[in-house]
Amino acid sequence: MRPCSKVFERPWRISPIRSVQARQEASVGAFAKFGSGDQVSYERRFEQVIGNSPALEAVLEQVERVAPTDSTVLIQGETGTGKELIAHAIHNISSRCGQSFVRLNCAAIPLDLLESELFGHEKGAFTGAIAQKIGRFELADKGTLFLDEVGDIPLALQPKLLRILQEQEFERLGSARTYQVDVRLVAATNRDLTDMVKRAEFRSDLYYRLNVFPVLLPPLRARREDIPALVTHFVEIFARRMGRQIEHIPSQTMSALSSYPWPGNVRELQNLIERAVILSNEGVLPNPLPATGTQGVVASAAATTLKDSERALILHTLEGVGWVIGGPKGAAAKLGLKRTTLIHKMQKLGISRPSLQSSQNVMSPRSRESDSSFYEA
Ligand SMILES: Nc1ncnc2c1ncn2[C@@H]1O[C@H](COP(=O)(O)OP(=O)(O)OP(=O)(O)O)[C@@H](O)[C@H]1O
Ligand SMILES: [Mg+2]
Repeated sequence: MRPCSKVFERPWRISPIRSVQARQEASVGAFAKFGSGDQVSYERRFEQVIGNSPALEAVLEQVERVAPTDSTVLIQGETGTGKELIAHAIHNISSRCGQSFVRLNCAAIPLDLLESELFGHEKGAFTGAIAQKIGRFELADKGTLFLDEVGDIPLALQPKLLRILQEQEFERLGSARTYQVDVRLVAATNRDLTDMVKRAEFRSDLYYRLNVFPVLLPPLRARREDIPALVTHFVEIFARRMGRQIEHIPSQTMSALSSYPWPGNVRELQNLIERAVILSNEGVLPNPLPATGTQGVVASAAATTLKDSERALILHTLEGVGWVIGGPKGAAAKLGLKRTTLIHKMQKLGISRPSLQSSQNVMSPRSRESDSSFYEA
């Protein structure tokens, strides 16, 4: 188990002095190699929250306030903004740190299995229940349960979740015995829950129960000051991992990275830096942004809205990969987004493949299921 942190020492994020120094060095085109005497272990550095922009500082202050309490925290923000990282930080600086941190991604579990994942089941509770199973709430007893993608919990299961959050008690499937647990809940979603409540897709009582302490993570484009420090951080991590030395980040590369709209936020930045480190020659970090796309999008970003530039970037990427969405060479990977997130964004922005647009509604859930190869290629 990883060591706990103390609230006011803030060892879980980079010290402002080092961050400023790294930022200044990076912005003039140099890259400082951190010495081997670094106290923070290489692996743990992946858990650090990097950045000291006012927008991120405001969030971290809220995190430090709420972490020592047992209150439920609802972390919201676009994909790749660091919601999971913050959930870990909340646990690590809370008094529950020595206990378990249990994560469940509600979007990744088939609907009919989600209930038993949450509450567990007894042997024979349903066809296929060949052994007893302990649910995530029980596993997280005395610790923290992180319910990721909480907006994807089906309506039918929401009253049960509400009950356990209010009463801290539940029954395993197939058992009448009531169990008591002491679990601190941290939930996250990149979906707009208030909007879902309005559309009757999410119960309002559960929303209010989850929304005790909301934390909204700003998108990367709203805290561009953090980009140089993040670039430096990821360059160091990937260079070490790949046994390469990066000694120079050209200032043009840094300014291109700093003005890009980052629809996939920090995850997209992280993936692009990994690519750049692979492509580096003679210790120089190349610009990993696609030449035409970047310039086009960045130029249009000044003249149009953020939504327009996001739309342009997604369209450009889809065209560049022949409208393949999933897979390692698909548009989602290139944008640093999850496949489902990209599909969701496309739906929201009304993007569909031009040649098929008139003949079928490719964005309808039915056609998506029946024609999944269209996306996966
Ligand atoms: N401020 C940060 N400093 C360092 N790394 C970060 C920061 N924010 C995010 N990351 C890294 O970016 C990646 C994406 O972050 P994370 O998985 O927490 O995003 P998320 O908001 O949960 O995304 P999604 O909604 O798609 O699940 C992770 O590898 C995380 O460690
Ligand atoms: Mg996440």
